[in-house]
Amino acid sequence: MNLRAADEADIPALLAFWKLAAEDTNRVDDDTAAVAALIRRDPEALVLAVDGDEIVGSLIAGFDGWRCHLYRFAVHPDRRRQGIGKLLLDAAEARFRSFGGRRADAMVLDDNTLAHHAWSASGYRAQPEWRRWVKGL
Ligand SMILES: CC(C)(COP(=O)(O)OP(=O)(O)OC[C@H]1O[C@@H](n2cnc3c(N)ncnc32)[C@H](O)[C@@H]1OP(=O)(O)O)[C@@H](O)C(=O)NCCC(=O)NCCS
Repeated sequence: MNLRAADEADIPALLAFWKLAAEDTNRVDDDTAAVAALIRRDPEALVLAVDGDEIVGSLIAGFDGWRCHLYRFAVHPDRRRQGIGKLLLDAAEARFRSFGGRRADAMVLDDNTLAHHAWSASGYRAQPEWRRWVKGL
């Protein structure tokens, strides 16, 4: 198992992986164009954990010049609790530090207790005073 940046050839397998492994509540649908746009804009942002040809984990470590955002944190259901999530978070945080990032954040559903365990284990804490405000474009 190793970590590497995704490239456009990974997109079909990645979309299938997210259907199997990722949290999908109330999201804008992921599609090929959206993932390709991310890879073109920031080729190192989308980190994959791969075992041979198989994607077993993913995390987007997005730095927009101001904030450090984490998205699409997912590990294959058969590969959880093996430290892959922690490895992905460590890699993302190292990337953010290299840009001088000072704080990483993630959107986490209140009832996603599985995710709460993993985020907490890596030192993340909820900020209950905030709500996300959104508008579709
Ligand atoms: C969240 C997720 C990515 C974690 O991946 P993972 O590879 O299983 O995480 P790790 O094995 O690195 O776990 C790191 C630590 O988190 C904690 N943890 C993770 N899963 C846990 C669980 N089910 N119960 C208790 N603690 C847990 C543990 O402290 C663990 O360390 P340990 O195994 O040495 O005790 C994975 O559960 C997942 O894909 N969930 C579905 C998608 C999702 O909800 N993603 C988050 C969106 S915000």
